[in-house]
Amino acid sequence: MYTENDVERVLLSADQLKERVAQLAESITQDYKDTYPLFIAVLKGSFVFYSDLLRAVGMPVQADFMSVSSYGENAVSSGRVKIVKDSDADVRGRSVLIVEDIIDSGNTLYALKNLLLQRGAKSVKICALLDKASRRTADIAADYVGFEIEDEFVIGYGLDYAERYRNLPYVGILKRSVYEK
Ligand code: IMP
Ligand code: MG
Repeated sequence: MYTENDVERVLLSADQLKERVAQLAESITQDYKDTYPLFIAVLKGSFVFYSDLLRAVGMPVQADFMSVSSYGENAVSSGRVKIVKDSDADVRGRSVLIVEDIIDSGNTLYALKNLLLQRGAKSVKICALLDKASRRTADIAADYVGFEIEDEFVIGYGLDYAERYRNLPYVGILKRSVYEK
């Protein structure tokens, strides 16, 4: 594929991703059975992970989507996010699972979780495929994590650099030469 020249190495193969997604789905299915949870994908990066997770989960769920960006440090610590695309669902009384591609600083998820709680969600948990735990500044942890990874820029399986590489079927480390030139 044309983009593969830009990949330093494959970090997580399609098979590894598939196996881990099945394990996450099993835990989530046990924890949420009989609650008809609302799964909110944080666009765009989570769309591939989300669609695989959703199909691996063995129960009825409501699917919805949001797109957010943070206002900056101060606004974020007060729990505010700029909503680019809002959820269509009424979250009051619902068990909500936010599905994210990767947690880095954690600022976005910190703000989004607080927003959904303020709107009256019964519970808000986070499922992140990837966790760069060493980069965390916000006081937040994911409830379900696929893989903890080192502080390297990764692409593929939904994750992008300048909107490219989202369609790679694996997670790879991007060559530094791509973003340092
Ligand atoms: P934060 O946790 O608020 O700092 O932001 C996390 C967001 O930054 C993720 O949802 C991604 O969109 C983006 N991001 C962080 N690290 C990477 C990476 O290695 N590759 C691609 N996107 C990333
Ligand atoms: Mg994202």
